[in-house]
Amino acid sequence: MKILWTVILSALLISGAGCAKEDEVSDATKPKTLEEQVEAMLGSMTLDEKIGQMTQAERGALTNVSDIKTYHLGSLLSGGGSSPASNTAAAWADMYDGYQTYALATRLKIPLLYGIDAVHGHNNVKGATIFPHNIGLGATRDPELVKRASAVIAKEVAGTGIDWTFAPCIAVPRDERWGRTYEGFGETPELQVMMAPAAVEGFQGTLSGKNTEILACAKHFVGDGGTLGGDDQGNTILTEEELRAIHMPGYVEAIKQGVGSIMASYNSWNGTKLHGHKYLLTDVLKGELGFKGFVVSDWEAVDQINGDYPTAILYAISAGVDMVMVPIRYQYFIAELRKLVQRGDIPMYRIDDAVRRILTVKFRMGLFEHPFTDRSLTPTVGSAENRAVARECVQRSLVLLKNSNSVLPLKKSATRIHVAGKNADDIGNQCGGWTISWQGQSGAITTGTTVLQALRNAVPNAASVTYSVTGSGASGADVGVVVVGETPYAEGAGDNSTLTLSSADLAAVSTMKAAGIPVVVILISGRPMIINSVVSEADAVVIAWLPGTEGGGVADVLFGDVPFSGTLPHSWPRSVQQIPINHGDAVYDPLFPYGFGLKY
Ligand code: BGC
Ligand code: BGC
Repeated sequence: MKILWTVILSALLISGAGCAKEDEVSDATKPKTLEEQVEAMLGSMTLDEKIGQMTQAERGALTNVSDIKTYHLGSLLSGGGSSPASNTAAAWADMYDGYQTYALATRLKIPLLYGIDAVHGHNNVKGATIFPHNIGLGATRDPELVKRASAVIAKEVAGTGIDWTFAPCIAVPRDERWGRTYEGFGETPELQVMMAPAAVEGFQGTLSGKNTEILACAKHFVGDGGTLGGDDQGNTILTEEELRAIHMPGYVEAIKQGVGSIMASYNSWNGTKLHGHKYLLTDVLKGELGFKGFVVSDWEAVDQINGDYPTAILYAISAGVDMVMVPIRYQYFIAELRKLVQRGDIPMYRIDDAVRRILTVKFRMGLFEHPFTDRSLTPTVGSAENRAVARECVQRSLVLLKNSNSVLPLKKSATRIHVAGKNADDIGNQCGGWTISWQGQSGAITTGTTVLQALRNAVPNAASVTYSVTGSGASGADVGVVVVGETPYAEGAGDNSTLTLSSADLAAVSTMKAAGIPVVVILISGRPMIINSVVSEADAVVIAWLPGTEGGGVADVLFGDVPFSGTLPHSWPRSVQQIPINHGDAVYDPLFPYGFGLKY
């Protein structure tokens, strides 16, 4: 606190602002409450300094690192895959501290708030612990576990200096053709209400300056999962009553939990872009729901409001966006926002409101006291202890859809278990999108245990687990395990109108079956797929979602060391024509209902 006071004091003195006469600065006038600290800082700021706080640039877009100082930037982000040249936790921390040095060289020394999509672990960092994507966590129905997982993620993020995760995503995905289905906890508001506060609490704690707490960001407000046809960034056509009933309850709980930031959504509501929606962002979110944190825009989403960028900025800021994820043309953004304020198009009270919200969060989380990385946390990134929590999440997320003749649990004493399928031995496929790179990638992209390796680790003789991707060589084995499903994708590219398995996947199942052995199918995918024929053909079917790096959790349950406990967070459709199909529909005849899950 002493350091903080000195900073404000010297700022006031240098600026000559307000009550900065030396003799007036006595104990009685020292800022005491958080509010007073914020007001003192705000009162000393120039327009350029305020606009800087409202600007978030992508680190890779910085024309010059010194722009952080020149433009008084309030925030930076790493977009998906935007990592330092050497992708290690220590290099991330060095990079973060380097940027922070420039922010602390500004007149007011306001630290940067650095954000990243740590959406299933600190997933841009090589060697970090990768958790199941939210759809798998939804299947656990265990908010306590989600809280613990989020606290582990927070610690790993803090170990690289980073202050803020763009998570949790509390979308309510109503149409599985949407490529972001896996980012939400499931198709009902019930799941978001259960998990949103748990995740926020895990990330933020009380957001009171502890080195292991990071700022959370509930996203994307609002209706992202409700777009027509599951179209990414599309139009959500609903009455206000429906929008509130399905897509808002998670936000109410996140706000009660004190979430410090909320990201606006790319989608439109009945044809109007959320980023320009004053009624929803200001009247409802900040007014009615009492959200006291700040609203950040999504990546270049302001640009979509209007073809004329200055007009788009005017609409977004007037609607209630407080910080703009520009993230590339930040100099242009800054110049145009300045003009809008100078011309009186945007009133100063709106700017002050935005900056006040941002500064409040920065003070609350102790950024001024601890602007640099706590290096004692850096070695915990990807630690065995953290991986154990992710493994537990995997165990709890698995959903058993079929188990004829008790083919599961597998026996460790089996003479031979034959494994097949393209997702059996591929860390990248297990992790899905938002892992190391934005869209994710197949292959050995980071450290972890594949399902095949985990099965081998679990048996007394690793050689008793054989593998061929196509399923050939299965005859004579006691049992076959085929791991099929999707390959990585993220926003946009992940939209899919068929949700069918590839012919190679279907062939691998058939080849194993043709060998005359019982066959267990494990589906690794970000959402329900159309698997009717596989369900009939296979003896057992397990849904593993996108489990992340800890394949050991799959083996634990397959061998019966841990029971099945997961239940479907989505209704499982019989056909793609049946989509959208959701719990509570008047006509409801899914292949497996929401909440389904067998036990041993
Ligand atoms: C996504 C957000 C993400 C942001 C930053 C956007 O494209 O919609 O979920 O937080 O990029 O990477
Ligand atoms: C970034 C992502 C971002 C996306 C939006 C990508 O280049 O890496 O973080 O969400 O662009 O289009």
